[in-house]
Amino acid sequence: MRKIIAVAVPKGGAGKTTTAVNLAASLAVAEKKTLLIDFDPSGACSIYLGFDLAVHEGDIFDVFTFTKHISKVIHKTDLPNLDFIPTNISSMQKEERLARLTNNPYLFTNILNHEELLGYEFIIIDCPPYIKGLTTIALTAAKSILVPVRAGQISLIALKKMFEHIKWIKSGVNKNLAIEGILLTMYEPNTKAWTLTKEELQNKFGDYIFKTVIPKNVSMPESEFFGKPAVLFNATSKGSLAYLALAEEIISRYASKEETNSETKSGSKSEAKAEPTPQEPQNI
Ligand SMILES: Nc1ncnc2c1ncn2[C@@H]1O[C@H](COP(=O)(O)OP(=O)(O)OP(=O)(O)O)[C@@H](O)[C@H]1O
Ligand SMILES: [Mg+2]
Repeated sequence: MRKIIAVAVPKGGAGKTTTAVNLAASLAVAEKKTLLIDFDPSGACSIYLGFDLAVHEGDIFDVFTFTKHISKVIHKTDLPNLDFIPTNISSMQKEERLARLTNNPYLFTNILNHEELLGYEFIIIDCPPYIKGLTTIALTAAKSILVPVRAGQISLIALKKMFEHIKWIKSGVNKNLAIEGILLTMYEPNTKAWTLTKEELQNKFGDYIFKTVIPKNVSMPESEFFGKPAVLFNATSKGSLAYLALAEEIISRYASKEETNSETKSGSKSEAKAEPTPQEPQNI
């Protein structure tokens, strides 16, 4: 089963791109065939991957506008199991056209069914810091959403807004959207801001929080300068190890789900285990 995970929250600087790039890279390191798609017009994933858009022609906008076939916009990266579709919205005209195109929430859903995309085990989508348009079409097509959260009241408000939007998506355009999890990022233990944020998260969203926590770690902004995922820049840094652990957490969750499904089907186990996350949103 393909896992299509949108990384989204309507707040700037929440760690979406860092998470999308480093989770995708960590899944690739774990030998999972992975595709990273940049859905943010700012093109930040390209910077995080050291990708020169002047050299590598072909982006997701070309697919939306039927200018290029999907096979022409999938680019190789330094990691053998990681491919990348960039976005390159370089002019006001393109931006306006994109805004019009993304009024259709199903814009991306059919594209995902292209043969060239069927062989990926994981597809990770980096969304922009707003809900309308690209985030909505990503969530309409995705199987699940991963929400990164950093400390602070504004982050909590953005998270609640995201969950409201998930409710709306599930009530119409994508009934099956699951919640992959809430990821605590740029985590600093023993700080007042994190203690308060965690308390509120545990109370309202406890079921959704990943076991893995991403610490605040200087190798993340450093690796961005060098245009490399942290796992390639400094594989033993705390940040890299945390993203590798997150990839493992997600992989093992799906592995146990698939195992449970096959056991249930073959009848070798009469009592199926409670379904692991991703789960239905509750307590919103
Ligand atoms: N774990 C971390 N430790 C330290 N710095 C981090 C960490 N994660 C992200 N950062 C830094 O925080 C900044 C914002 O991260 P990022 O670009 O991933 O956020 P974003 O949610 O994608 O932002 P935007 O909404 O603008 O797209 C970046 O400079 C990044 O290097
Ligand atoms: Mg970003």
